[in-house]
Amino acid sequence: MPVQEDGLLLLLYKQVPTMQTSHTASTLSRQPALLSVTTEGYETFFVRLMDIVRHQPIDQALGQRIQSYVTDWLASHTLADFATTSTTSYVRNYLGRCPETHWEAILMSWQQGNTTAIHSHPQFAGYFFADGVFEVEIFEPVEENKVRLAKRVRVNEPTAFFAIGDAERFDNHIHRITCLSDRGHSLHVYSDDALQGKTYLLSE
Ligand SMILES: [Fe+2]
Repeated sequence: MPVQEDGLLLLLYKQVPTMQTSHTASTLSRQPALLSVTTEGYETFFVRLMDIVRHQPIDQALGQRIQSYVTDWLASHTLADFATTSTTSYVRNYLGRCPETHWEAILMSWQQGNTTAIHSHPQFAGYFFADGVFEVEIFEPVEENKVRLAKRVRVNEPTAFFAIGDAERFDNHIHRITCLSDRGHSLHVYSDDALQGKTYLLSE
């Protein structure tokens, strides 16, 4: 459902009812407050990113090439196009989505207090914290849909890292990100639709 906020048309991902049992994890696509918009003008960035990943095995070498490319791009580009934030959700600006490879790149705009669900990822997930202060909590699975905290990291400066998990699964690298500063930006590269990432509850 489209909503108007801060002068920009934001596309709110509609909750799509799916056949689920009580044993099946929910996904990020079912987060009702998640705000996503497609931002034009970044085709060159994304085409070059696809030239790097297309027909390549997902391994550490590919992760390093993606990391170098995105880090260099962030160092030479302003993020002034991504000033819109929301009190209800971090704002996901799609820079590109590839129907052939299924890879996607998303620039996220944050304000203090914005937080993700505890969620997991497709096989490759690359993170580039461009500005701002963030907390990244990493979790380990305990039982179906339940996780416990394994590690908490504070990001105080531009930081890049990536995680590689199992292919054709969306339960890799479970984490939660929270923005601690007034504003912040991060750029994310995924090997498949991140909204298919599962969401989890904290174990008692
Ligand atoms: Fe994530």
